[in-house]
Amino acid sequence: MNPALSAVAASLDVSERITPDRVHGSLYTDPDVFDAELQRIFHRGWSFVGHESEVPGVGDWVSRRVGRDPVLLVRTRAGEVTVLANRCAHRGVQLCTGSSGTNGSFSCMFHGWTYALTGELRAVPQPIGQGTAAAELALDRPRAVDRYRGFVFANPSGGAGPLAEHLGVGGRELLDWAADLSPTGELDLSAGWLGQRSPSNWKMWAESDNDGYHLGRLHASLWRVAPGTQYESAALAGEERVVSTCRDRGNGHIELEFWKGYDKDLAWLGTGREKVADYVAALTAARGAERAEELLWKGPPHALIFPNLFLGEMNLAIIEPVSAGQTIHHHTPLLLGGVSPGFNTRVLRQSEAAMGPAGFLLPDDATASERMQVAFAGTGGWMDLSRGLQREVFEGTDRVGHVSDETVNRGFWRHYRAVMTP
Ligand code: FES
Repeated sequence: MNPALSAVAASLDVSERITPDRVHGSLYTDPDVFDAELQRIFHRGWSFVGHESEVPGVGDWVSRRVGRDPVLLVRTRAGEVTVLANRCAHRGVQLCTGSSGTNGSFSCMFHGWTYALTGELRAVPQPIGQGTAAAELALDRPRAVDRYRGFVFANPSGGAGPLAEHLGVGGRELLDWAADLSPTGELDLSAGWLGQRSPSNWKMWAESDNDGYHLGRLHASLWRVAPGTQYESAALAGEERVVSTCRDRGNGHIELEFWKGYDKDLAWLGTGREKVADYVAALTAARGAERAEELLWKGPPHALIFPNLFLGEMNLAIIEPVSAGQTIHHHTPLLLGGVSPGFNTRVLRQSEAAMGPAGFLLPDDATASERMQVAFAGTGGWMDLSRGLQREVFEGTDRVGHVSDETVNRGFWRHYRAVMTP
């Protein structure tokens, strides 16, 4: 049990605030709910930390948070990727500032304790007091760290069971799908991250990133200045004509299947085969004709891996909870290994146009989330999530609805309720 957790949060029961088609707004604003989420979702469960491609060389590190806890994703001398607390074991000073770097070891600026890349205490300027063994003074770390296709996840408590179980078949398929887009299976998250701080709750971002209902209305100005995108046929053509679907893959992993509504292959890249012939050839050689054709049509997934990883087509985002009313949405372009520089430049330009506080998409979503936070700030009130409830169907264990249905929101909250129930 996290001793910092308030007694109220420890015994909090949110189950009456979530029904099959309604959620109470206090879940976005209540500080006790936020404290309980840190414990039950981010401490007891798995969450995304980073990608192996971000730390390619020995000693490379990037700074992240697991819940609210600052951590370092580090490449050790043995070539492993590990996750360490970014907090000196002596008196708690932050070891690394900034977002990334390369170190031979980690030395604390306060009294000079020095740690190996694996977190063991290697040197102290004066002897350690009162018989504390050096082995007990290693950097703290999550009890469980695991990876899938280069995506690194941490479970601080170590009690969440295997990562493969958390991801499930659905989560693994989504990560396979993203990695398979690269002819070499390698992703490259080295373009840098842009963090957008928003005065809104983290769950609003998880939902907004995966909401197919708002595209025509909230982003109307974008479609006026940028007509002809893949979303015209996939989401904007009117409910009767749009065949795209959304999918609740279980465990809180949710997906918008825009690809079903595309009108041509490579629509997701905004180009045709002749412009990326080398990519088409390399993907076909690597994956075989059938899988390559499938990927060329579908492009990247648009999905949330619960709770904090957004596979935003050719972008990847981390949703960082700061407080009940503050979130940082970090995002970076999903560059591919084994493609030409021109291909990745195209991805970068697309990302710059859509994402960030000066992009065409994210400011709209930020504004809607911020207005929700303001509107729920008092006693709350109920939020309706019933759209499409009567027409969603099961495909295996997945629930599937029209892309504009709230099947995905209900899936998110169904899992949230399960993991938040004491
Ligand atoms: Fe880090 Fe003292 S706080 S060495």
